[in-house]
Amino acid sequence: MTPRKILVLSGPNLDRLGKREPHIYGTQTLQDIYAGLQALAHELGVELSCQHSNHEGVLIDWLNGAEEQGFSGVLINPGALTHYSWALHDSLKGCGLPAIEVHLSNPAAREEFRHHSCVGPAALGTVAGFGANSYALALRGLVLKLG
Ligand code: DQA
Repeated sequence: MTPRKILVLSGPNLDRLGKREPHIYGTQTLQDIYAGLQALAHELGVELSCQHSNHEGVLIDWLNGAEEQGFSGVLINPGALTHYSWALHDSLKGCGLPAIEVHLSNPAAREEFRHHSCVGPAALGTVAGFGANSYALALRGLVLKLG
């Protein structure tokens, strides 16, 4: 049996992890986080494609093509797009795949503008507040859900 493929997307400014506000986001780079996630994926018997873009349209293009490319599910940390991108919401709703919203920090415990998520209502669930481990917990949750 071919392993399930999961698309992992990170949005604006997450390429700055490790340097960007480490007291909030920790000291691991996105490459570190993706390397740990690949090791977990191997353990769980799934295949990952881990991507990053600072551009909303690029993330949407990846989502819109994901089902056709044989992906079974999505993990997405949309960065600040979370709070205002209805285009990302629509893409997640329309992409035909279950998606988990991921955040390193807990936006609900931060500034007011972070309290609203456009993405949450289009996702299967949200994992937030566990630092780099949020990605790993979300992957475990998605794999359990996919069965
Ligand atoms: C974030 C939370 C967002 O509010 C913020 O804009 C980010 C990172 C997180 O992972 O905690 O860029 O998505």
